[in-house]
Amino acid sequence: MQPKHHIIIDTDPGQDDALAILLALASPEIELIGICAVAGNVPLSLTQMNARKICELAGKPDTKVFAGAIRPMLRPLVTAEHVHGKTGLDGPVLPDPVMPLQAQYAPDFIIETLMSRPAGTVTLCCLGPLTNIGLALVKEPRIASRIKRIIAMGGGWSEGGNITPVAEFNIYVDPQAARLVFDCGAPLTLIPLDVTHQALTTRKRVEKFRKMENRTGPAVAELLDFFERFDVEKYGTDGGPLHDPCVIAWMLHPELFTGKDVNVAVECESELTMGQTVVDWWRVTSRPHNAHYVRGIDHDAFFKLLTERLATLA
Ligand code: BDR
Ligand code: CA
Repeated sequence: MQPKHHIIIDTDPGQDDALAILLALASPEIELIGICAVAGNVPLSLTQMNARKICELAGKPDTKVFAGAIRPMLRPLVTAEHVHGKTGLDGPVLPDPVMPLQAQYAPDFIIETLMSRPAGTVTLCCLGPLTNIGLALVKEPRIASRIKRIIAMGGGWSEGGNITPVAEFNIYVDPQAARLVFDCGAPLTLIPLDVTHQALTTRKRVEKFRKMENRTGPAVAELLDFFERFDVEKYGTDGGPLHDPCVIAWMLHPELFTGKDVNVAVECESELTMGQTVVDWWRVTSRPHNAHYVRGIDHDAFFKLLTERLATLA
């Protein structure tokens, strides 16, 4: 199959990031041009390593992985070991990667890719704080008009926040970068907590991964066993929200989701509400639409897609 999506994944793995990367690697419609690591769930030294571990788990060691920002644009780094564990990928024991880390700085790779490929052909799939994209936009603003679409997991409105009462982690960690990205003029899809909190890793779903006869499936089940324990206790649900794979699933099958075009602004001034995404869902301002804001998901179809695709990996 000729790939119809040419993408860069920008990520801070993270167990749920890992599943998103695996879904992309398992999808013949996707050309994964490169993976850019950013500091987020854990520091950059771990996220770049985790990205490579995932590629090797999937049997795709030729994937290009780049390291980017070591910290947010203006604020000190906040991490989430309380959710993801000390390594960011706690759960299974995955061997240290053998595949190399690319020498190029991730924001430069993003710029070079967007400037050298035909305009409107490259999609940015963003699974972590938006620092790398923000830095690329500052260094080379002309990339904005060349991006096909930015699909970013981040924010929350009806669901509130997960790192503060009103802020979602990815936006909270680098709100200045998020504001730059939201206002850059490129088509933007936001996958907020409002939708990811409907995509739960129930026991039944996790067992399907565990029963797979490949290497990836059981490792994924172990990743999810670890990942969901925090949210299960917090929310009292059967399983935790599987945030980041929704980004890849929306790109492949937008018909599994519902949402609408709105204005989303990012709070960057108040410490109390830092990183809040202010979503004009009811159009009470005249601020222009800058995002397609996703709020609904066919979660059974989403997990079916994920299960079928991951079964094809090593
Ligand atoms: C987001 O924060 C991270 O912990 C997850 O990987 C996801 O990208 C959810 O708020
Ligand atoms: Ca993430």
